[in-house]
Amino acid sequence: MSTFKSIFITGASSGIGLATAKLFHDQGWQVAATMRDPADAASWMTGERCVVRDCDVTDQSSLDMAVKETLSKFGKIDVAFANAGYGLNGPIEGATDEQMLRQFDVNVLGVARTIKAVAPDMRARKAGLIITTSSIGGLIGMPLAPLYISSKHAVEGLIESARFELAPFGIGMKLLEPGGIKTDFSRRSADWTDHPAYTDAIAAGKKMAVDLLDSAPDPVKVADIVLKMATDGKKRLRYLAKPGPYVAMYKMLPDRLWRGMIQMALRSASKN
Ligand SMILES: NC(=O)c1ccc[n+]([C@@H]2O[C@H](COP(=O)([O-])OP(=O)(O)OC[C@H]3O[C@@H](n4cnc5c(N)ncnc54)[C@H](OP(=O)(O)O)[C@@H]3O)[C@@H](O)[C@H]2O)c1
Repeated sequence: MSTFKSIFITGASSGIGLATAKLFHDQGWQVAATMRDPADAASWMTGERCVVRDCDVTDQSSLDMAVKETLSKFGKIDVAFANAGYGLNGPIEGATDEQMLRQFDVNVLGVARTIKAVAPDMRARKAGLIITTSSIGGLIGMPLAPLYISSKHAVEGLIESARFELAPFGIGMKLLEPGGIKTDFSRRSADWTDHPAYTDAIAAGKKMAVDLLDSAPDPVKVADIVLKMATDGKKRLRYLAKPGPYVAMYKMLPDRLWRGMIQMALRSASKN
């Protein structure tokens, strides 16, 4: 078996997943970079310490095959990074059943399927760590993304609970909770609901979502935190990553003030 450490990543084609794949590779790790379309792979992923594999987290057999190929090349998976996700934004009233099901299929069941795919090998070796990308939206409610936000709240509950059943087998679980990060998420990985009663709010929300991420911290900073999570040897569950002021304000302010502040920001965005 190889002496290199290995990481298995979902959603490694772009953003946080890609930055993490690159950092771990640069640090000498073996990297299984999985993505829906391997044509999106970065050029450095052709290296000896890389596996690029197509993998859609809505399909258990796709995940199982990707894990099987990784194990046959690397011999083991030390860290699994369940990172793939997308954002369904917009008011609930405008959401179709198909949109709502897809949101939970990718963001929540995709994580559950990733755990199912990697746990048997980790359990047999009595070692392994599963890091899942949640969000500060897994901790606090935000306007105009109730389905995305609730999917991330579900991820928090999934991991916080599953860690109890996996711990006796030597498998650790950690939650990465980024704030706004400068990726293309709002353009390439976001879908919007539509409803005539919310036209102004949706238009303002679309603009805010793009502006917010364009001026946010670089995903390389989040990759640094994932590396820390993978190597610090701690049993800590939650790691905030560049959360901005929101989590602290949410915890500190009385609900009346928090609500007023968010509604005021929304009103001013709708006017612009
Ligand atoms: N950027 C932020 O501000 C922010 C904040 C908090 C949390 N997050 C979370 O961070 C994670 C990564 O997002 P990002 O910001 O890095 O945006 P991104 O660059 O758009 O990355 C999203 C990744 O998820 C993949 N993906 C989507 N559906 C998939 C599926 N069914 N199967 C496999 N992969 C799938 C995408 O692959 P394709 O190339 O195939 O589309 C892409 O690689 C997500 O879970 C997101 O919710 C982001």
